[in-house]
This record gives sequence, structure tokens and C-alpha cells, in this order.
Amino acid sequence: MLLAQLTDTHILDPESTEERWVDNNGRLTMAVDSINAEAPRPDLVVATGDLTNWGEPGQLAELVRQLARLEIEVLVLPGNHDDRASMKAAFDQPWAEADHLSWVVDRAGVRVVGLDTQRPGADGGLFDPEREAWLADALAGADGRATMIAMHHPPFDTGITWMDHDMLPGADRFEVLVAAHPNVTRILCGHIHRPVQSLVGGALATVGLSTVHHVALNLADVSPIELIRDPAGYQLHRFRHGRWVSHTRYIDTAEPAFAPSWAD
Ligand SMILES: [Fe+2]
Ligand SMILES: [Fe+2]
Repeated sequence: MLLAQLTDTHILDPESTEERWVDNNGRLTMAVDSINAEAPRPDLVVATGDLTNWGEPGQLAELVRQLARLEIEVLVLPGNHDDRASMKAAFDQPWAEADHLSWVVDRAGVRVVGLDTQRPGADGGLFDPEREAWLADALAGADGRATMIAMHHPPFDTGITWMDHDMLPGADRFEVLVAAHPNVTRILCGHIHRPVQSLVGGALATVGLSTVHHVALNLADVSPIELIRDPAGYQLHRFRHGRWVSHTRYIDTAEPAFAPSWAD
């Protein structure tokens, strides 16, 4: 199983003159081209939220147009910047029969659970009793096979305090649920706009890097709101021989690979 994770693409309406710090739409074009060129080719692309900048129709249309260029199945999740109703209408996915836009699929021997953590109207997310019950069912249905959970808001504090504030109420119950399912070994997240890793309930939880601007790294007790144009890209997560291994592909600063002289 090889899975590519896109996150926080923050797509804009091509017609808009909205302030931008990088070329958001051009970055997704580069990422899609790069994923299509991956060899081996990923089995699945998962996009973990904040896919549009404000959930507006022109932004969603551009997102749909760009993701349609992927030559691989793609499954999307909403973040705090997306609009659930229009996203649900725009993407033909096995959506949960619920208010939240969660889903579960089995691909290449792995169960992949997409958990919608959106709290409408808020920057932070939510893991409420309804989603807890839905996730418990999705994990129970795995029948012991390797399981990955994808979600927008990380279920752990990153230490970047202005991002962590009110980030995922209910994360403690999420961790208890994960810990009860040892076959859940990977959790993919977005929202933070920079790569971060921690263990949650015994599973490795990682935040993927954004294709656009990043959040500046500042671990002070009180950190200012600061962004930074760090190298952007996406991640590849491979499950092989019973183990997940994750890699980062940069898209904006990477030069072509070259063979050093001593490789002859
Ligand atoms: Fe974001
Ligand atoms: Fe977000």
C-alpha cells in the first residue's frame, strides 16, 4: 500500500485578487504533476483538509478541476476552511450517513478511515460523541487488519501554542479509542502547515507539510502568529512488511536527482 497525502492546499478562485503569500493554485498543479509521476505509483491519494481557502464556489470548482488531473483515486476530507455541503456535493465518495463528512475504505489490504474533525464556524475541530461512535464502528469493522486514520486537526498538542488553542476538544477520548485498537498504527493529520510527529494511543500521528505557506516554528509558551515560506510538498506513506514508512516529497525547491561521481 502506497498512499500520497496532500494537505492544506488552500485553493483560491483563479479570478480573485485575494492576498496570497505563495502561488497556492500553482503549487497544487506541481503536486499533482509530481504525484502522477511517482514510481511506483501510489494506490490512493488522501487530501486531509483546508483544500479550499474559504469554501467558496470558485475555489471549490478550481479544486475539483485540479484534483481531476490526478491519475489515481483521491479521497478528500474537510478542514476548518472548507464548506461541508458543497464539498459533499462536489466529490463522489463513500460518505458516512451522518452530518460529518467521514468515510472508510479498504484499499490494498489496509483500512483507511477518513475522520471529519470540522466544528462548523470555528478554527478548531471537535471529536464529539457522535463521531466517537462512528469511529468505534469503523475501527471494529477493520477485523484486525492494518488501519490508518486520516483527519484534519491533530489529536495532540504540537507546542505551537497559537495553533494548539482549542484545537480538538475530545482528543483525550480519541486517544483512548485508538489505544483500544492496536491495529491502528498510523494517523495522518493536517492543519498545522508544517511536519510534526507524536505518538497517540500507541499509533504514530504525523502532520503533513502543506503545499502552501507554513506556520513558523516557535515553541515559546506564548507564540505570535507567524507564517513562513518553508519548502512545500506532500508525503508518501507506504505499508510494507507490516510497517508504515513515511517520506516527504518537496515540490517547489527540489532539483532533479543526480548521481555523485563516486556512484560509478
Ligand atoms: Fe490550513
Ligand atoms: Fe486547518
